[in-house]
Amino acid sequence: MGKIIDLKDKLDINKNDLKEVTDCIRNGGVVIFPTETVYGIGANALNKEAVDKIFIAKGRPQDNPLIVHISDYSMLEDIVKIDKINSTEKSLMEAFWPGPFTIILPKKDILPDNVTAGLNTVGVRMPDNNIALEIIEAAGVPIAAPSANVSGKPSGTRIQDILDELSDKVDYIIDSGNSSIGIESTVVKVVGNKVKILRPGKVSKQDIEKVAENGNVEIDQKVFEKSSIDEKVESPGMKHRHYAPKCNCILVYSNDESKMIDRINNISVENVDNDADKICILGFLEHEIKLTEKLSQNIIFINLGSIDELNQISKNIFSALRQVDKLNCKLCIIEGVKKEGIGLGIMNRLIRACEYNYIEIDDTNK
Ligand code: TXA
Ligand code: MG
Repeated sequence: MGKIIDLKDKLDINKNDLKEVTDCIRNGGVVIFPTETVYGIGANALNKEAVDKIFIAKGRPQDNPLIVHISDYSMLEDIVKIDKINSTEKSLMEAFWPGPFTIILPKKDILPDNVTAGLNTVGVRMPDNNIALEIIEAAGVPIAAPSANVSGKPSGTRIQDILDELSDKVDYIIDSGNSSIGIESTVVKVVGNKVKILRPGKVSKQDIEKVAENGNVEIDQKVFEKSSIDEKVESPGMKHRHYAPKCNCILVYSNDESKMIDRINNISVENVDNDADKICILGFLEHEIKLTEKLSQNIIFINLGSIDELNQISKNIFSALRQVDKLNCKLCIIEGVKKEGIGLGIMNRLIRACEYNYIEIDDTNK
């Protein structure tokens, strides 16, 4: 059982609070720590054996590379080939670091192969979280950290979810309350002078367009498309099963809210055969009554937040998906959001949670 360090209500974090944790990282240990996106499970990125422990704890496939977290630009120079970085890449780092933004860069040999799953590139991020930055700085080494969850499950954003899954597999767990963004960082790769979004997140396409040369940004095809396990893809994480609850899930979206509600209600009716059938709906606060009134005995409603508050929905989605597994439902129906701003990242996670079982309803009134 890892030691829990409670920093939830601590306003000023100092080196003493984190000394045993940073010593542990330097000695090859594994630590769960907060970032502004989701919790990370981290180890010294320069220590192969320590990094192996992360893969074992998560049950993570060896071909899925880790993000390396840094606290300043001198660490960047230690791990990537700085002379190969172009002006677009520089501008992106300046604009979005520290923050929920990961960029794929050419790696130096100092990084062990398991960190990058044998690729010659590495995903790097400078997180915008005091505790994370303090740990990296005090440990004096970059920290390789995927999201804190068993591989395939939603990323850990609430400490109880993380303790249930990983507490006996790590040395320390730092509790600093619920993650503030709730979905993982935006991952990009610059190809020529075009910025490719490999995983959408809080830093949106619109944000990146303002920084990229000639606003040249594209969303990788695989963000919304299924890929097979033996396919070669830009971001290996995209081909693995992820976020999906155990029961069947279906995602429904329309710009027209009443059409979305009607379709969900129809799906619910079609799937309820008797009193014992339970359907779980992950929906918006404003729709709760309309989505539950017809079949109040059968429907369990999980509130994702207000339809107008995408940041709140982003914070809630992973814990909501985890709740589904505790309910033993026949089906889970999820309300979708517009694929705009952070909504693109939310929909990317939800479509994968539903294993591409997605209905988009035309909102034109023909
Ligand atoms: O917000 C985040 O990014 C969180 C926190 C802890 O920082 N971390 C995170 O890590 O989400 P992880 O391992 O769950 O996701 C890393 C993603 C995967 O989809 C992986 O395939 C991609 O980044 N990635 C990492 N290195 C890559 C590389 N060299 N080339 C392409 N994709 C890479
Ligand atoms: Mg992950």
